Amino acid sequence: MIPELSKPSVCMRDRQRVEEIIQSLRRAGPSTLQVISDFDMTLTRFAHNGKRCPTSHNILDNSNLISEDCKKNLKELLNTYYPIEIDSGRTVEEKLPHMVEWWTKAHDLLIQQKIRKDLLAQVVKDSDALLREGYKAFFDQLQERNVPLLIFSAGVGDVLEEVIRQNSVFHSNVRVFSNYMDFDDNGVLRAFKGQLIHTYNKREGALLNTGHFQELQDRHNVLLLGDSMGDLTMADGVHNMKSILKIGYLNDKVEERKESYLGSYDIVLEKDETMDVPNAVLSHITGGQ
Ligand code: TMP
Ligand code: MG
Repeated sequence: MIPELSKPSVCMRDRQRVEEIIQSLRRAGPSTLQVISDFDMTLTRFAHNGKRCPTSHNILDNSNLISEDCKKNLKELLNTYYPIEIDSGRTVEEKLPHMVEWWTKAHDLLIQQKIRKDLLAQVVKDSDALLREGYKAFFDQLQERNVPLLIFSAGVGDVLEEVIRQNSVFHSNVRVFSNYMDFDDNGVLRAFKGQLIHTYNKREGALLNTGHFQELQDRHNVLLLGDSMGDLTMADGVHNMKSILKIGYLNDKVEERKESYLGSYDIVLEKDETMDVPNAVLSHITGGQ
């Protein structure tokens, strides 16, 4: 049906069910569809030429806006908490307090650095941030078909918006839920706005944004893209959901986590740095193929 589903990186527990969901999404058509995607390590690459790519937080962490001392502290936080984030031996409930601690400490450190709003664009330009191969076809296709794209990220909203903008794909159908910086009158970071979003509280974030899902209430079908088990709850605010297809990027600790990903995501993409599969599924659903 879709040749890209035979790529070696594609794993499915129940291929027939995937085909059924795709057929029902196709029958219902693009006017009933919304796409909800995580940003870091889902729309951006995990690695390139053997080197890890930065998350939106890492773009700041690695920049000249941050002192050497602070870089060391942020690195220590990453080394402490990232293994917890991806630990398949702990439940989400067990991970929650650690994630709140990580995000809170990291944001406090960033605030201490008095980051200037007017320097963010250059920092993103100088960074190694990379959207996945095929990103342009993904964003452009959604725009052309009038399908809304919600980017739901526990990263830094100001930074990820800049990444999308600099890649010329911040189209009018794109909305972002994320952690946004609050700048004082001199354009200096003084806080983060609103309710903190971390990897494992996206459900709460979704339920807070009722207005957005209200606007899209006729779109009962969802294509969800994520790379973390926390991303599975991003669509919890959708009204009267009919069909949902969940595509999960399994980037790291593949063998250890494969079983749980296969149990939760309909399609698992193992160490796949491209948007080939989401693009092919989207073309098929929206009649572009
Ligand atoms: P998300 O991809 O689920 O939206 O989460 C954002 C990622 O950001 C998550 O994988 C952890 C990562 N992160 C950092 O790299 N540095 C940090 O300081 C923090 C708080 C998170
Ligand atoms: Mg992610």
